[in-house]
Amino acid sequence: MITVFWTCLLLYSNTLSYSHDSTNKGNVKNCKYLEETHLETLFKAIDYRKDVFVERLAHAVAIPSVSSQSEHQEDLVNMLKWTGDILNNLGFFWQIKSPTLSNKSNSSTSLKYPFLLGHLAKAQNINKQVLNKSKTLLIYAHVDVVAAKQSEGWEQSDPFVMERKNGFLKGRGTTDDKGPVVAWLNALSVLKEELGNDCFPPLNIKIFLETGEEIGSPGLREILSNEATFFNDIDYLVVTDNYCLTNYKPCLTYGLRGMVYFSLEINGPFKQDLHSGVHGGPIDEPLRESVYLLASMVDKDGKILIPEIYDDVLPLEEPENASYSSIQFNDETPGAYFVASKNEVLAKKWRWPSLSVHGIEGSISQKGDVKSVIPHRILSKFSIRLVPDQDPERVKELVRSYLEELHADWTLGKENANTMTLKSLHEGVLAWYNPNPQNNPVFIAAEKAVKRVYGLEPDYTREGGTIPAVVYLSQAIPSPTNVILLPIGTTDDGAHSQNEKLSEQHFMNGTKLMLAYIYELSLTQY
Ligand code: BES
Ligand code: ZN
Repeated sequence: MITVFWTCLLLYSNTLSYSHDSTNKGNVKNCKYLEETHLETLFKAIDYRKDVFVERLAHAVAIPSVSSQSEHQEDLVNMLKWTGDILNNLGFFWQIKSPTLSNKSNSSTSLKYPFLLGHLAKAQNINKQVLNKSKTLLIYAHVDVVAAKQSEGWEQSDPFVMERKNGFLKGRGTTDDKGPVVAWLNALSVLKEELGNDCFPPLNIKIFLETGEEIGSPGLREILSNEATFFNDIDYLVVTDNYCLTNYKPCLTYGLRGMVYFSLEINGPFKQDLHSGVHGGPIDEPLRESVYLLASMVDKDGKILIPEIYDDVLPLEEPENASYSSIQFNDETPGAYFVASKNEVLAKKWRWPSLSVHGIEGSISQKGDVKSVIPHRILSKFSIRLVPDQDPERVKELVRSYLEELHADWTLGKENANTMTLKSLHEGVLAWYNPNPQNNPVFIAAEKAVKRVYGLEPDYTREGGTIPAVVYLSQAIPSPTNVILLPIGTTDDGAHSQNEKLSEQHFMNGTKLMLAYIYELSLTQY
């Protein structure tokens, strides 16, 4: 039933793009390469295709490629194949590669998180010699999403059926990261459909898509090392998987925080839940200890209390701190920040580590439940966002030794006490930043592209989130600093949250930005 539904959807999606192809091919002609004067025509061609492009995103959203749920493994592959079908029409060669994930994965070893590696066939262009000399741009994105259930508070009846309402595209993945993926495909479609084989910008284009980003990128490093030849001729890396601070000021992003993610299991010295009236008092309680341990790691102002954890944090020097003052910032998260100044908010999000508690399994959680029970097993999940120069392995050790010490103290002198198991759920990811973005060709080209599309200077921003591929890809390509994050969505899009959305305007302008970016980058060579 589900397969039939998918087959229909895939056919439908291809029909849409084919029919459009045939009516709009090759409107820009008689040129050697794409020229400045053609950009307006291409931007109009993007506007003209708006409904088709929105429809394409709806198809992507409808594939529930939730990487954290094993029942959606097939959808991860479906998502790559769906993208591959579009890439075929664009003249890409592509392959799907699965990591073996031998004895490393925290999940069952039978689960695989495949990658798509594609490149735009060189021969399609006018002048092979020029392309052989041209630089190569790699576009990275992820096509997996985090889980979503209507009952969590979504306004629409199904988070995987995209809704188009009041200028917004609503549904899981619209901003993180399917909207950006589809925007890249749309930008490339317009190039192909409008230029045919003429006037193509002299730039080699590769694409690398991941299906396990949302769970810490299992197998990423394995693929990078197995497929080293795919990555070792990359000159520039662009990633569209983050957000601008406002909806009126575009931005270019030069930093990300890293992350370590833990599960903390506390088991009581009893095998099932107990009545607190019958047993409460002389018994160790797993939830009490869990809450104590979690609360001991961070104070009320968010300062992490784990000894030595700030030792390797790079100070925020004046030029950078000063640069925050001119950043446009109107994050409307209602009344959400407990610090008042803009610089402090940004530094706390971008430049200082933070600890978040994500959930506590095993306590009563049924709505309205008032059971007077002592739960026998509690599994808490928490993570720490890391900043330069914190080392994930060192932070893991610090967390472990602090919690072991607290646990030893908690259980001291008790005949029967709780037991504690701490696990790292991801490999751990370093923070990333580009130390000198303004002078880097990937940022210079992006700044020009932003000016073309928006008529504005972009703000230079960092981010508080984590994208493992940015760290590892920048280590795998020959010029590690030629890496840029080029966001199209905004902070208030609600990534990972209920009612995730992307504005139609950003979807369309983002597509233009991507196209202009390809054009600007292609000028920096041959
Ligand atoms: N798009 C986000 C990364 C991001 C988040 C950028 C917030 C900027 C601000 C990405 O899809 C994501 O959610 N990454 C995970 C990675 C983790 C599982 C290692 C994250 O940051 O939690
Ligand atoms: Zn995400």
